[in-house]
Amino acid sequence: MNILILGSGGREHAFAWKIKQSPLCNNLFIAPGNAGTAKCGTNLDFKATDFLAIKNALIELEISMLVVGPEDPLVKGIYDFVMADETIQHVQVVGPSAAAAQLEGSKAFAKAFMQTNNIPTASYQEFDKSNYAHGVQYINQHALPIVLKADGLAAGKGVLICTTHEEALTAFEDMIQHAKFGSASEKVVIESYLNGIECSVFVLTDGKDYCLLPEAKDYKRIGEGDTGLNTGGMGAVSPIPFFDETLKNKIITRIIQPTIQGFQTAQMTYHGFVFIGLMIDNSEPYVIEYNCRMGDPETEVVIPRIKNDLVDLFRALKNGSLSNIQIEIDTRTAATTIMVSGGYPGDYHINKNITGLTPQSSNDCIVFHSGTKLIDNQVLTNGGRVLAITAFGNDIPNAIANAQKTLSEIHFDDQYFRRDIGYEFM
Ligand code: AMP
Ligand code: GLY
Repeated sequence: MNILILGSGGREHAFAWKIKQSPLCNNLFIAPGNAGTAKCGTNLDFKATDFLAIKNALIELEISMLVVGPEDPLVKGIYDFVMADETIQHVQVVGPSAAAAQLEGSKAFAKAFMQTNNIPTASYQEFDKSNYAHGVQYINQHALPIVLKADGLAAGKGVLICTTHEEALTAFEDMIQHAKFGSASEKVVIESYLNGIECSVFVLTDGKDYCLLPEAKDYKRIGEGDTGLNTGGMGAVSPIPFFDETLKNKIITRIIQPTIQGFQTAQMTYHGFVFIGLMIDNSEPYVIEYNCRMGDPETEVVIPRIKNDLVDLFRALKNGSLSNIQIEIDTRTAATTIMVSGGYPGDYHINKNITGLTPQSSNDCIVFHSGTKLIDNQVLTNGGRVLAITAFGNDIPNAIANAQKTLSEIHFDDQYFRRDIGYEFM
C-alpha cells in the first residue's frame, strides 16, 4: 500500500525509517518531511495542517494509510475531515478524532476525563473570566509550588510552575485578562504540584484494545543537570531502569485500562497513539498530561526498539485485531541525544552546512533528522532541534557512549547538545 506521513521532525523520520522496512509499504510519502525522510520516501511540499493539499495527495497518490505525527492536524480534525469525505474515507487515519484529541488540545478536558474515570492526577480547578475572582482566592489559599496551565495548545510553553503566590497571581492575570497565550489561555487549569520523577508510556489503541509500547524518559531542559529553559526535548532513553513489573502493573490497572474504558464510555473514536506523561512519586504513578500522538524525541528511542512491522501494527487498528498482536521489544537500551542550533530554544540561525553525516543507519546507531533540509544535495540546518542521534547499548552509559561516537563526527556551526542524557542512571 501507499502511505503518507504528516510532519517534519525526528519523530516523523523515525516513523519513515521504520515504515520503509515494511514489505506492506509500496510507496512512502512524507509531508513536508526533512532531509532525513527524503532518504526513506518522497517528500511533499505542503504543511501537515493543509487539509486540502492532504486530500489531493491522498487521491492522486492512491494513499491507503495516513500516519499523523504532530498534534496540530489531529486537534484541528484531520481524522474527521477524511472520514467525512466520500472520496477519501477509505483511507486509514492513524490518529484520534478531533473530539478525542481534546485530551491534548484542552487541559481542562483532560482533567475532567481523568476525574470522571478515577485516574490518579494532581487535584485541580479550572477558571476563566467568569470566575476570575474565585481563581484569585483559590491561588491565595493554595499550597506552593502551584501549577498554572493554559487550557489550549501553547507550543509547549503554557505550563507555569510558580513558587510564590505573587508570581502565580501575575501569571493568572496575564493569562486570563491579557491573553498571554492568546485564546489558549482564555481558560486556565490550576493544579497541585506533583513531586517525583517523570517518565512516559505509550499505547497504540483502537479505542477498545491496546498494545503497550516501550516506556521512555525525555530530558526537556536546555542545560545539563536539567537546568535552564524548557525545550521540545534534548534527549531520551528507553527502557527506564526503575520501570519494574510492579510499577508497570500499577500503570496498566490504574491508568491505561481506565483510559481505554473511558474512551468507550464517552464513545470517543480513537485509532492511534496515546502518550501518557507520568510523575512517579514513591512508586505511585500520577498522570501529568495526555498527548494524542507520539513524543519527540521519545519516538526516536521507542520505535527502534519495536521489532514488529509497524504497518502491520497500524493495520491491526483498522481490522480490530490488536488483541492478537504480541509486541516484540529489543531488550537493549536505546538513547538519543539531540543536536540543536546555538541559541535554541530562543533565537537561532538556520541554513548551516552539516558535515560528517554517516550513512543513515549502522547496527548500533541511527541518525534521525529533525530540523534539516536538502538543498543541491547538501544537508542544511532548518530548525532549532537539528538531529537526533540514537544508539543502542547494553545499558544507558553504553548507549550514550555509542551515540556520542557518531555525534563527534557530525558538525555544524554553533552546534550544541547535552552530554548528560540519562545522567540519573549513570
Ligand atoms: P505538560 O505540558 O502538562 O506536560 O507540562 C509540562 C511540564 O511541566 C511537565 O513535563 C512537567 O515537568 C511539568 N508539570 C506539569 N504539571 C505538573 C505538576 N502538576 N506537578 C509538577 N510538574 C508538573
Ligand atoms: N517530548 C515531549 C513531547 O513530545 O511532547
